[in-house]
Amino acid sequence: RIAYVNGRFVPHGQASVHIEDRGYQLGDGVYEVWAIFSGKLADAEGHFARLERSLSELRIAMPMSRRALTLVLREAVRRNRVTEGLAYLQVTRGVAKRDHAFPNPPVPPSVVITVNRTDRAAADARAAAGVGVVTTPENRWGRCDIKTVNLLPNALAKQKAREAGAVEAWFVDDLGFVTEGASSNAWIVDRDGRLRTRDTNANILRGVTRNTLLEVIRGEGLDVDERPFTPDDALAAREAFITGAGSLVLPVVSVDGKPIANGVPGPVAMRLRRLYIDRAK
Ligand code: PDD
Repeated sequence: RIAYVNGRFVPHGQASVHIEDRGYQLGDGVYEVWAIFSGKLADAEGHFARLERSLSELRIAMPMSRRALTLVLREAVRRNRVTEGLAYLQVTRGVAKRDHAFPNPPVPPSVVITVNRTDRAAADARAAAGVGVVTTPENRWGRCDIKTVNLLPNALAKQKAREAGAVEAWFVDDLGFVTEGASSNAWIVDRDGRLRTRDTNANILRGVTRNTLLEVIRGEGLDVDERPFTPDDALAAREAFITGAGSLVLPVVSVDGKPIANGVPGPVAMRLRRLYIDRAK
């Protein structure tokens, strides 16, 4: 495996950044994840646009142009000979003597890329079986619209899910509404057959997959409400699913161990998964 670190492609086992990288010490950085289909980056522009926004919100300079970054990412995919998988890009504020405030003068941002292969057959089998989610109190900061590497609440929530035999954790806010998953956006198909997902004025990540799927849904003439739902709404729903670069469109069949409808993936989620994948290919 080959990684990219600050201008060089290096063997994955030898890829490293300095111990005083601000990503390591302060979580001062951002990331993006692209699904790779047939060796191509899915929703490429949407992820780049969000990367630029995350960086600008944190006042970190774009390390190189979008065009140059695209070429480097594609080269990383090519060198790893991955046709089906995930590309990970991380940009941190750079290496500087530890100090919470920004280094002055600024230092060059650190850029890291890794590429991983996905077993699509296994992923499809998991989708066909459906996955469980657990709920957990929303305890993240107020800027979840920024895709930062500060992922401790997400990591703890995901571990809670894993220990419960579930695949994702849904954060639930003070009003009892689901915000999103630890690494995905959350959706239901309600009793009237309407799709529902949290609106992006809420404190959530504006999922690129979510956005593309909204286009797919509108193209299919399905009704969608960008409106909050509770875990009980999900349990009373016809279907539920999650979206993200890692999960694509993944049916959810239980919440906190209780089944949704008859506990199997619903037809809408399965159809949207197929449509999303066909479009990304
Ligand atoms: N996670 N919400 C959160 C908190 C996420 O971390 C992600 C993505 C999403 C879905 O966004 P998108 O559709 O743009 O991938 C929503 C990535 C895949 C990760 O952390 O690995």
